[in-house]
Amino acid sequence: MISNITNAISLNIVESDIEKTVLGEKDESLLEALQRANVPVAAICGGQMSCGTCHVLLQPYNTKEEFKSPDAEEEMLLEDSCYYMQGQSRLACQIKVDKQLSKYKIVIVQE
Ligand code: FES
Repeated sequence: MISNITNAISLNIVESDIEKTVLGEKDESLLEALQRANVPVAAICGGQMSCGTCHVLLQPYNTKEEFKSPDAEEEMLLEDSCYYMQGQSRLACQIKVDKQLSKYKIVIVQE
């Protein structure tokens, strides 16, 4: 519920070619924000970084800043996906919501 979010940050989501805005709370995981907003993300392992089904693409549209790269373990999981895009692919369970994230289009990958 929006009223429970104390440090709300607008996130730009693209899911099944439909763009919408979702509110995230600073420092929660992107996965938590997506699940609270009922955005369909499989997340089979529940955020334990073992399934790769919370795959998203971060596409800059309001920034030239580079988003922090995934670590080696996350990158290995992402590379298993046929939708993997170097420089854009991330796991929603491994990203923290912050103001930088609001400068990206977050595309939900349907694995
Ligand atoms: S929820 Fe399984 S890797 Fe993110």
